[in-house]
Amino acid sequence: MEDEPKSHYSDNCYDGHDRNDPIIGKKFFSKYRAVKKLGEGSFGKVYKAEYNNEYFALKFENRLKSQQNMLEHEATIMTYLKGPNIPIIKSYGYCGDYNILVMQFLDRSLEDIFNRIKKFTVKTTCMLGYQMVNILQYIHDRHIIHRDIKPDNFVMGAKENNAHLYLLDFGLAKKYRSSKTLIQCPYIKKKKLTGTARYASIHALEEMEQSRRDDLESVGYVLMYFLRGSLPWQGLKIKSKEERYKGILVKKKETSSEELCRGFPEEFKEFVEYTRKLDYYEQPDYDMLKAKFFNLVTKTNGEAFDYIYDWTTDSDIKKRKVEYPDLAPSTNEKKSTQKEMESTNSNKKKLNPVHAPNNKTMNSENMDANNVIIDGLRENNNGYQSKCCIIF
Ligand SMILES: Nc1ncnc2c1ncn2[C@@H]1O[C@H](COP(=O)(O)OP(=O)(O)OP(=O)(O)O)[C@@H](O)[C@H]1O
Ligand SMILES: [Mg+2]
Repeated sequence: MEDEPKSHYSDNCYDGHDRNDPIIGKKFFSKYRAVKKLGEGSFGKVYKAEYNNEYFALKFENRLKSQQNMLEHEATIMTYLKGPNIPIIKSYGYCGDYNILVMQFLDRSLEDIFNRIKKFTVKTTCMLGYQMVNILQYIHDRHIIHRDIKPDNFVMGAKENNAHLYLLDFGLAKKYRSSKTLIQCPYIKKKKLTGTARYASIHALEEMEQSRRDDLESVGYVLMYFLRGSLPWQGLKIKSKEERYKGILVKKKETSSEELCRGFPEEFKEFVEYTRKLDYYEQPDYDMLKAKFFNLVTKTNGEAFDYIYDWTTDSDIKKRKVEYPDLAPSTNEKKSTQKEMESTNSNKKKLNPVHAPNNKTMNSENMDANNVIIDGLRENNNGYQSKCCIIF
């Protein structure tokens, strides 16, 4: 995994006229014409594509290079999770050398925005923090942890959804507990870090099995990155990857929450402290964390929790068709494991199982706790849609 996330999206770098790019200008699944490169990560490339005057995001994985079928894993998890702050999956299949995931087109990532603005205000950071915790609460309730929380993986919605934050990149996501018994994966030492060293929790850097607490600890580092402009463990001059990871771990451990958050409202220090102290098996108090951000904006600072971020323009506000609900956190929190179990069971009844693109029914029962997903799904390595339809 990477320790320093790359900056992905740039309006200027990829203008759709890059003749050397083997994907731009081509049509996939007889429909989606790739028009612009949006990003490139460790596992794939993402393009903006056009079909019927609508935009989509296409994530490509080279089938010849990828041995693990990460994109299929990602497609399955995202289809299973299906929620308001997760990009909608339109289809998954393969074309030529590529596995391709077609999803809802979103706007810029928080890393792209941050690279232009350099620092975010407390209000913007709180509104983002609130939504981050809310999204994690949603996916954790559905037995999944993300394991790569970083600014590049949070993306703002496009057009009328420009107020909303979305979480993407579920390539490293994992089922962390049984949906029936809620028993978690054992706490064991892993062979390497899963995630991005800069934002990874201390336990993740120590190569320990991750749980809900690790996603939340990463949120704390992401928020402090936005407020401070950088993190104390950035830019260590160590060449080898292993040594750099060790250096980041040492510096992270040495940096107290007090020192990390000095000069910013207490709530951030409390957040970092709380998430660092969580036990591996502990159910985090998401509502308490959300309330911190909400109250800091509305009560302490006397501002409106109105989704007007540092970068929001009047034209963005005009595009917003939806009325945004009052986000005041509910006081009826579920705290005990017993309550959690009841709620998960009742949720299960309400949730309609969603269908994988190959029409296998997906629900939390047939997901494998060892990261790789649905029983039987991997039998069909040729993709969900058995058509190969690249059009040149
Ligand atoms: N649905 C989308 N709409 C708009 N932009 C997107 C979308 N999905 C991804 N992107 C852009 O592409 C970038 C890379 O996407 P993603 O994180 O899924 O790829 P990755 O290869 O797993 O990256 P990494 O390994 O670096 O995390 C994102 O940071 C974002 O800027
Ligand atoms: Mg990513």
